[in-house]
Amino acid sequence: MRLGLIGLGRIGSFHARTLTDLPAVDSLVVTDALPAVTAEVAGRVGAEAVDSSAELLAAGVDGVLIAAATKAHPALLLAAVDAGLPVFCEKPVARAVGDAVAVAERARDSGVPVQIGYPRRFDPVFRAARAAVASGELGWLHTVRSTTLDPAPPPAAYVAGSGGIFRDCTVHDIDTVRWVTGREVVEVYATGSSRGDAFIAEAGDLATAAVVLTLDDDTVALVSNSRYNPRGYDVRLELHGSADSVVAGLDDGLPLRSLEPGAAFPAGPPHRSFMDRLAVAFRAELAAFTEVVAGTRPSPCTIAEALEVAWVAEAATRSLHVHRPVRLDELRSL
Ligand SMILES: NC(=O)c1ccc[n+]([C@@H]2O[C@H](COP(=O)([O-])OP(=O)(O)OC[C@H]3O[C@@H](n4cnc5c(N)ncnc54)[C@H](O)[C@@H]3O)[C@@H](O)[C@H]2O)c1
Repeated sequence: MRLGLIGLGRIGSFHARTLTDLPAVDSLVVTDALPAVTAEVAGRVGAEAVDSSAELLAAGVDGVLIAAATKAHPALLLAAVDAGLPVFCEKPVARAVGDAVAVAERARDSGVPVQIGYPRRFDPVFRAARAAVASGELGWLHTVRSTTLDPAPPPAAYVAGSGGIFRDCTVHDIDTVRWVTGREVVEVYATGSSRGDAFIAEAGDLATAAVVLTLDDDTVALVSNSRYNPRGYDVRLELHGSADSVVAGLDDGLPLRSLEPGAAFPAGPPHRSFMDRLAVAFRAELAAFTEVVAGTRPSPCTIAEALEVAWVAEAATRSLHVHRPVRLDELRSL
């Protein structure tokens, strides 16, 4: 099949390499707002370069992937949907939940399949965590702890355009909690700190966040995020139930140094970034999209599900500002 990829920055250039390695992909057309970036990535992975997203949508592609900056997602998603092309879009759908609602409605009405990029759904260990919950072997869950700690903050311009840490980073944890437990979030309490590089506070953003999610079966989920974890990339999910407790992400690459005398775990080296920790997941995610394009499977992460995540991130943002827990039904009725 012939695919188009829009946006060739940090994640887009990584996806370009993965896509050209997939057996289902015969040809790849790429574009970025920066022509030099388009030329460099196209040359490096052996893709066809075009000058604009409009040109790409008209280049006879069977499906489109959007990995451009977050602020460009709604317009690009709508353009792909209007062209009737199955589309994969990196999280989040939009910076504002109102835009996400509008895009989701148009996508639903069009019937065009949309897959949103939440790669943990394709990580073998996170899949095992979901299976453990579904099997009942954990009993009833009382506590979920979801952790995402980045080694270092993204560039200042990225932070300023990201929509804030809840919409940019916490959304991964929110999606994971919903997907693994199969439950909906009913209430959110969020707090955090901007301590770190000045550009984070200047963008009105947090460098470190803590979010308490109450689920509709009274499970409590605790989310921990930070942009400052120089030991490595820490993505972990703990599930504590009435019968057993399990964890995803407790491997030898866990970026934590034990202070127990003689402890040999974790043996290291620590995961350096989400790209090495989740490389298998990203490949499986994009392979799944080729099946969506081929019409052999439904979207494994629909825009409707991503919209629920967006509502929870919106509740976290509001909770931070009003400094109290925010119920989802209260937010939706505003
Ligand atoms: N799923 C994940 O784990 C994951 C990881 C990283 C980033 N992301 C998401 O991917 C997106 C990109 O992140 P990044 O880290 O690669 O950012 P980045 O800043 O490195 O790259 C963004 C690229 O998009 C290009 N661009 C901006 N507007 C465009 C437009 N209208 N048309 C074409 N190109 C355009 C920019 O020139 C730049 O090259 C963000 O939405 C981010 O949330 C997802």
